[in-house]
Amino acid sequence: MTAVDRTRLAQQLEVEQERFDKTHPKSHELFQRAQKSLLAGVPMSWMVKWAGSFPVFVTSGKGAHFSDVDGHEYIDLCLGDTGSMTGHAPDVVLDTITARMKQGVTFMLPTEDAIYVGEELARRFGLPYWQVCLTATDANRFALRIARALTKRSKVLVFNYCYHGTVDETFATLHDGVVGPRSGNLGPQVNPAETTKVIEFNDIPALEAALASGDVACVLAEPAMTNMGIIHPDAGYHDALREITRRTGTLLIVDETHTICTGPGGYTRTYGLKPDLFVIGKPIGSGIPTAVYGMSEEVADRTRTQTPLEDIDTNGIGGTLSGNALSLAAMRVTLEKVLTPQNYARMIPLAQRFELGVNEVIAKHELPWIVKRLGCRAEYWFRPTPPRNGSEAAAAVDFDLDQYMHLFALNRGILLTPFHNMALVSPYTSESDIDRHTLVFDEAVRSLVA
Ligand SMILES: Cc1ncc(COP(=O)(O)O)c(C=O)c1O
Repeated sequence: MTAVDRTRLAQQLEVEQERFDKTHPKSHELFQRAQKSLLAGVPMSWMVKWAGSFPVFVTSGKGAHFSDVDGHEYIDLCLGDTGSMTGHAPDVVLDTITARMKQGVTFMLPTEDAIYVGEELARRFGLPYWQVCLTATDANRFALRIARALTKRSKVLVFNYCYHGTVDETFATLHDGVVGPRSGNLGPQVNPAETTKVIEFNDIPALEAALASGDVACVLAEPAMTNMGIIHPDAGYHDALREITRRTGTLLIVDETHTICTGPGGYTRTYGLKPDLFVIGKPIGSGIPTAVYGMSEEVADRTRTQTPLEDIDTNGIGGTLSGNALSLAAMRVTLEKVLTPQNYARMIPLAQRFELGVNEVIAKHELPWIVKRLGCRAEYWFRPTPPRNGSEAAAAVDFDLDQYMHLFALNRGILLTPFHNMALVSPYTSESDIDRHTLVFDEAVRSLVA
């Protein structure tokens, strides 16, 4: 097996950094100016976590491509970390969205689009009742509230190194087997050990043990983990998860915000899962902020009676802009025209092409790396076997190598997701976009091992 030459990696990283600085003067200038009014020079702090020493400032995006203020064009394989999995400004949604904006956005009253959306979500994902909010983070927070209210239990169970948005209870990881705040967790409201149990994904005995005490309101799970790279469930894991949660009176919340890449009905529809609650955000409105959570008949029946009408506005579930007319119009048209079986039938083979191309390069250079794929999402790993859980995935992270691969790609007009080596395919991505990435990936590898 070939090993990456670390001295060379450090040298090449500097070369790429210089190239980036030299070719992005306008972004650099804007970033300097932004320091004076925006904390860290960006509208949201994580926007500094790109491979270059400053973020590129975007001018516009269309389909699978975007351009920056220095006049560079990029193939976008990040797609707003799934928020733009629909492609940027898809033509098929623009008329609907602009018409809605001209007719008003926020009323605190429903529009007829809500009914189409509720009916379509029920048909697609198999849960009968739905609510609309603005972000997947909020949808998860509200689902947790419902779970606690119905079970009268305080704890939540998540998987080590999960990500479900900035939900306090989920910002917990195992430290030598003990639950504590995740690294970077800024000002946790309480030590998450008080609210959260954390176990490894794919560990059935740990799940049995954690739920046996009957104090866990719900398991919040991505059906396949995606936020430390793609980690597939073992065969039979979902059956066990469902059986144990039911037996112990624990509700099961499935978060499909990323795994909607599996197919038009997400992982849930593709693999016949039966969650009690279901969450999805990000691409469901083609980039317009919106998210939804759905629930089973039984959960809906029990939830309806929880709060008297006079207190319904102070039950902790809300957001003045939630369920606004623009979100609903965007969801309606996205479900009707973008997240369609026809588009998935294009997107998934392109992700397979990505997987094949990257695998060929890895094999050619005899690297101990692999590629994993879930529907139209693919990701390469710097380890020889698929990780089965978050700890194994975290141990495989190689920050310098990540930075280098990302920067090398960025300097050649390809954007990968900043937090891992993920590529996502939109309905507008082309074969030549994918093949360009394979070529650049090969070049990057050659620069490290030749
Ligand atoms: C699985 C999952 N759920 C929820 C979220 C939160 O989404 P948002 O940041 O849009 O609230 C994310 C974000 O990456 C996610 O990956």
